[in-house]
Amino acid sequence: MSVILRGEHLVRGFGEGELRTLALRDVSIELEAGQVTVLMGPSGSGKSTLLAILAGLLRPDSGEVESMGQSIVGMNDAERENFRRKYCGFVFQGYNLFPALTAQQQVEIVLRWGEGASAKEATAKAIETLTVLGLGEKRHLRPWQLSGGEKQRVAVARALVKRPALLFADEPTAALDWEHGEQVVQLLKRGAADDKATVLIVSHDPRVTGLADRVLFLADGKISTDHHVVDGALEHREPAKEAVR
Ligand SMILES: Nc1ncnc2c1ncn2[C@@H]1O[C@H](COP(=O)(O)OP(=O)(O)OP(=O)(O)O)[C@@H](O)[C@H]1O
Ligand SMILES: [Mg+2]
Repeated sequence: MSVILRGEHLVRGFGEGELRTLALRDVSIELEAGQVTVLMGPSGSGKSTLLAILAGLLRPDSGEVESMGQSIVGMNDAERENFRRKYCGFVFQGYNLFPALTAQQQVEIVLRWGEGASAKEATAKAIETLTVLGLGEKRHLRPWQLSGGEKQRVAVARALVKRPALLFADEPTAALDWEHGEQVVQLLKRGAADDKATVLIVSHDPRVTGLADRVLFLADGKISTDHHVVDGALEHREPAKEAVR
């Protein structure tokens, strides 16, 4: 197994003085190519912060992130944006949709600007992905006209449509009913299996943990336990070792 994403000794705090919170104290993590890793832990334990740092959306105060063979901490903003556009797909905890765009346009824009697809190609792919997610009929609606679960599915469609090498999802099924949650889980699974994507998902949904190759628990800004999933059962694993360079 080859390591495709490595975070080393990641530290990240927020705020100043007495209000200072240390979200990540010292986290080292390695993601292996093509695996689905699920990150669990109590609210406020630093899961979203860790995901954002590994995805190149947030800088750590200290520590290193090596992704697809490149150090992303050392990159400037333009380089990091380019890197994200080329390799990463995201599903955010708060959807992050553009208020003025229809569901279809939210997905098309990723293909047009990220992938350089033609308008025709982008439209066809966007409709296909939205239809799979049960949103074919609603594709012309804007975020304020969609329910929470529908917005969540648009966000998932947007992340998956460009078939990214690295897929990051923060609670992707939290706002969904059983049936649509199941569809999202199947899509994430397909992304990992067919597209050989490396997937990191923050989730407590047993259906999501059920498709994991590995489950990590974060508590108090540190990784407390690390398990491999073998035949559906959790098997303990030593925490990520010091990386050998
Ligand atoms: N932008 C920010 N400004 C100030 N504090 C922040 C910011 N982002 C995160 N924090 C703090 O860092 C800690 C970790 O936050 P984080 O969002 O990573 O937790 P989480 O594990 O994702 O929680 P949840 O399960 O509730 O989403 C929390 O104490 C939070 O208040
Ligand atoms: Mg969070």
